[in-house]
Amino acid sequence: MSEASLYERIGGDAALRQLTDRFYDLVFAHELISRLFKSDKDEIKEKQRLFLTQFLGGPQLYSDIHGHPMMRARHMPHVITEDDAVAWLQCMSQAVGELPISKELKDELFDRFPRTAFFMVNR
Ligand code: HEM
Repeated sequence: MSEASLYERIGGDAALRQLTDRFYDLVFAHELISRLFKSDKDEIKEKQRLFLTQFLGGPQLYSDIHGHPMMRARHMPHVITEDDAVAWLQCMSQAVGELPISKELKDELFDRFPRTAFFMVNR
């Protein structure tokens, strides 16, 4: 039998709703990176929930609706520096830290982000 996905182990959809809700509240209030987010907060929360569902091994919700993720290409229109990636990761670290899961699981979850975040740096 295969091991449960990280998506399932953190608590599935309820956990991702809590995570994306808190994360974008922090991002939209952040002094450095809030400038990048011009569209509707609920819409980006929803897209990120769909994306993270599949990113963490759950159903392919993002691709079903929006097609191939191509995350680096989708971020290209936005000027993203290393400092922006660090700030993004700080918001994510705080949001992950507030989830009602074990320290080990928080660490495992947060570890999924730094590589991807620095991959989005495009300037
Ligand atoms: C490195 C720091 C990052 C910055 C500054 C950043 C910034 C942005 C911005 C400005 C948008 C467009 C939001 C809008 O429509 O107003 C966006 C979209 C998105 N970002 Fe990021 N991002 C970063 C890293 C990441 C990472 C690491 C992931 C995934 C783990 C991610 C996933 C997404 C998703 C799923 C969308 C929605 C794409 C769509 O339009 O369908 N981002 N991001």
